[in-house]
Amino acid sequence: MEKVRRAVKDSVGEVMMDRDLFHRCVGGNIVLLIQAFRKKFIIPEFDVFARKINEIYKTVQEQRDGKVADYIPQLAKFSPNLWGVSLCTVDGQRHSVGDTKQPFCLQSCVKPLQYAIAVHESDTEKVHSYVGMEPSGLKFNVLSLDEEDKPHNPMVNAGAILISSLIKPLANKAEKFDYFMEFVKKMAGQEYVGFSNATFQSEKETGDRNFAIGYYMKEKRCFPPGADMIDALDFYFQLCSIEVTCESGSVMAATLANGGICPITGERVLSAEAVRNTLSLMHSCGMYDFSGQMAFHVGLPAKSGVSGAILLVIPNVMGVMCWSPPLDKVGNSVRGIHFCQELVSQFNFHNYDNLRHFVKKQDPRRQDGDDRNKSVFNLMFAAFSGDVSALRRFALSSVDMDLKDYDSRTALHIAAAEDFTYAMQFGHEEVVKMLQEYQEDWKQQDGEVEQPPKLDTIEGMI
Ligand code: DON
Repeated sequence: MEKVRRAVKDSVGEVMMDRDLFHRCVGGNIVLLIQAFRKKFIIPEFDVFARKINEIYKTVQEQRDGKVADYIPQLAKFSPNLWGVSLCTVDGQRHSVGDTKQPFCLQSCVKPLQYAIAVHESDTEKVHSYVGMEPSGLKFNVLSLDEEDKPHNPMVNAGAILISSLIKPLANKAEKFDYFMEFVKKMAGQEYVGFSNATFQSEKETGDRNFAIGYYMKEKRCFPPGADMIDALDFYFQLCSIEVTCESGSVMAATLANGGICPITGERVLSAEAVRNTLSLMHSCGMYDFSGQMAFHVGLPAKSGVSGAILLVIPNVMGVMCWSPPLDKVGNSVRGIHFCQELVSQFNFHNYDNLRHFVKKQDPRRQDGDDRNKSVFNLMFAAFSGDVSALRRFALSSVDMDLKDYDSRTALHIAAAEDFTYAMQFGHEEVVKMLQEYQEDWKQQDGEVEQPPKLDTIEGMI
């Protein structure tokens, strides 16, 4: 927006909008504008959704548990009250609440990015000839390898240190760093990506455990031929010290949610294969010893870091970056975890929320207009003509039986209206009964769900 304002200000003269100005205005938001013109946003009621996010943010803010990491002064300095959430949809809609402009280090949130870049550069088979894909069931910095003497997965320290040696193996140290920074900037749509040299120095000074892991892997010949273990460690410490804000981090997450194409610039940054692998590993191994519970309760790929960051991906919908420094015993941000849980308790974002015949939660996503119209038409026609078996078929294939037409009438309204006028003999009574049974079923499944209209209300209306 700032860019647009500046561009308009610079161009004050006779021509208010020339080709160049138009380019400058739309350049950074091309995906968003295309979707806006097509009226096809993934979350059409974005302001309603954003208000709900603000409510969740406020509820979660009340959480006072957890402890800010203090093994280095650069982390210990952060106030426990800091709390920010930013989201970016796959079509570039943005929302931020709280401390979303303050830079913090990615720390372990860089691990999925390292892995994604390594796979993008080479391929899955090559990367996984050096590192496993199984959750370790151990703490992230344990001195442990799997049965083949490989790091358990790329989301624990051993795996990430090893992956550091796979990225741009022939380049020198400076080139590697620049290359990685360019890559993550592309993922962040050229928004804020910085580097904390103080954090890097502290990580190196206090990184005895990581050195021990490095030497252990060297002894077990884990590194590729020609790789230098100390260089790999040094690069790993640098990568942990890369800074983002919630805002820029949410764009990175959105690039993953969008299959590797940055939703702000429209540029393909990562291959589809790299993104798919990364999301799978985030899902199974991204949250330390909480990964199983996260997969169970939240059902979404995520990665946390000791700075209090959580990078959350809702595939095909949006990326989220939460940040609040106080950590729980496992090392995850207390507020970040609560936010993820609250989000999924309100919206049907859990990987398995969309199974057929499931209890309904709110779905903020766009419904395909054509499909919906077709379903409304089919339902209304079956209700009008008393076709019970067609209606049963729709219910069994999880069509929403409460779909409303342009006058807010449901199939039950239509069937009841036909029933009460002249069509008893055509079986409408049976249709009404069937639709009422359907109502009863929903009531038993979830009392909170908005119920279809009751028959006596309908009688009153006709
Ligand atoms: O390697 C370390 O110990 C830290 N710099 C990274 C820590 C972190 O975020 C926890 N990781 N899984």
